[in-house]
Amino acid sequence: MMFVIHDALRRDATQLARAVEHRDLEDPRRRQALLAGWDVFKRQLQRHHEGEDRDLWPLVRTYLPARDQENALLTEMEREHDRIDPLITAVDTALRNSDPGWLAEATVAFREELLAHLQHEERDAVPLMDSVLSPQDWKAFSRAQRKATGFRGAKEFFPYILDQADPERAARISKRLPPPLRILVGRVWQPRYAETARWN
Ligand SMILES: [Fe+2]
Repeated sequence: MMFVIHDALRRDATQLARAVEHRDLEDPRRRQALLAGWDVFKRQLQRHHEGEDRDLWPLVRTYLPARDQENALLTEMEREHDRIDPLITAVDTALRNSDPGWLAEATVAFREELLAHLQHEERDAVPLMDSVLSPQDWKAFSRAQRKATGFRGAKEFFPYILDQADPERAARISKRLPPPLRILVGRVWQPRYAETARWN
């Protein structure tokens, strides 16, 4: 699931860069779609990072009392999240102020930092998590995420990660959902999510 979420975030980092490059702010319809795309991207990214900072890194740390190098890696993860926060604010502010020069600069900085962080996490932190966390730990983490997301959050989360996912992967995700939720996602939440134009 971690890779699925990361890929959705990478997808939107590219969508944002493309919209900025195509000067979507100048056309009212495209501007609205850009703002709608950014809104959900920002929210999902912030929720993902909050979930890791609150429920994942502390859980991994319980297994690392005397492993300085691994603890330092988790500290780097937290610092990278902290560095991304003001970059989100910069993109946000440039968008709200319709400042194309500022937006282009803020987008480059934000995208670079986000992509580097996702790669760093996948290369170093995911193998560390996999080596220490038990299946029960992953279940506990998923439970905590579900609780924090709630029903309202799930309405956006599932269509968000499934948007443009390759069919094989989308089928694998859907298969893991309890049947009533699978039906709700496919028949109600995804069509409703698709009603709003995002990015273009
Ligand atoms: Fe992550």
